Amino acid sequence: MIRIAIFGFGAVGQGVAEILMQRERIERWIGRYEVVAVADSRGSLCSEDGISLKEAIEVKKRGSLPEGKSVMEIIESMDFDVAIEATPTNIETGEPGLSHIRACLNKGSHVITSNKGPLVVAYKELAELAKKKNVKLAFEATVGGAMPLIKLAKRDLAGNEIISIKGILNGTCNYILSRMEQERLSYQQILAEAKELKIVEANASYDVEGIDSAAKLVILANAVMEMDATFNDVEIVGITSITPEAFEIAMEKGYTIRLIAEASRDGLRVSPRLLPLHHPLAVRGTLNAVLIQTDLAREVFVIGRGAGKIETASAIISDLVDIYGNDRTN
Ligand SMILES: NC(=O)c1ccc[n+]([C@@H]2O[C@H](COP(=O)([O-])OP(=O)(O)OC[C@H]3O[C@@H](n4cnc5c(N)ncnc54)[C@H](OP(=O)(O)O)[C@@H]3O)[C@@H](O)[C@H]2O)c1
Repeated sequence: MIRIAIFGFGAVGQGVAEILMQRERIERWIGRYEVVAVADSRGSLCSEDGISLKEAIEVKKRGSLPEGKSVMEIIESMDFDVAIEATPTNIETGEPGLSHIRACLNKGSHVITSNKGPLVVAYKELAELAKKKNVKLAFEATVGGAMPLIKLAKRDLAGNEIISIKGILNGTCNYILSRMEQERLSYQQILAEAKELKIVEANASYDVEGIDSAAKLVILANAVMEMDATFNDVEIVGITSITPEAFEIAMEKGYTIRLIAEASRDGLRVSPRLLPLHHPLAVRGTLNAVLIQTDLAREVFVIGRGAGKIETASAIISDLVDIYGNDRTN
């Protein structure tokens, strides 16, 4: 019996819960399991025998989870085999996720996270701690949402040297740029409209200034290319000064503009770049796209949904199956 704890019960935490409610589907992959705790910022539901996820989601719909143990109290007092950490990202301190992940690894629990902050701030420390404690730290959901990237590069491209990874890691920027490409509206017009339609968050500066892409690039560089990179190593230019005229000129010559994050031995950089209009990375809308360049397999492209409740939860479930599972290769 696998005992699971879910820390953070917003979009991603609830997405995971919804998939775990499909017991027949998931037990085929990992065998028997129970969720013994779920926690949000104000409360939690806990039971050593397993809680009802349906009830947890219903309670959460009405507000917060009931007052109860905090995440740290759950870690200290309860037995669980794997924690799913889905609290908000803070790339300056890594908190609260960093303390949660450290404490879980120290007590010998596996950790699966969608939270970029702890990995940007302390990837090396956490990876070494997981190794020392002989548990897994899995984070497929932190980069590229549903897209298989981390396990693809680390496992499926085993034996290859990864020469570079480059692509579109932020759906909000891509949405804005692909609409500028098609409609030649100004950056400000599209951003304002997208905010109104709630396609992008009210505070989109992390996205449009390239910070979110840079955080993901640091994770890829460290995890997949074995670099020892920090956020400050990334040269960052966002998309805020791109004009409709820039698109006009680019498109006359058969190019478009996308925010490209690239890690290679020459360094890490996030910046708007020209791409041939029909280049595989020139995807539209909120899609993400990544090109992994290797010495043996050469170019491998991945295109998919970089965010979304169920899409991100899909990556978390894939990590769960990776730790416990009967995946399709067995
Ligand atoms: N949404 C996506 O598509 C997506 C994609 C990839 C990665 N991610 C990452 O996944 C993580 C979760 O994203 P999300 O969209 O689910 O965010 P969200 O909807 O804001 O949910 C965050 C959850 O964490 C809880 N929380 C905050 N501080 C906490 C604390 N100290 N202890 C326990 N719980 C705490 C919040 O509690 P309250 O409910 O009480 O506020 C909320 O339930 C973030 O790090 C995000 O960057 C998200």
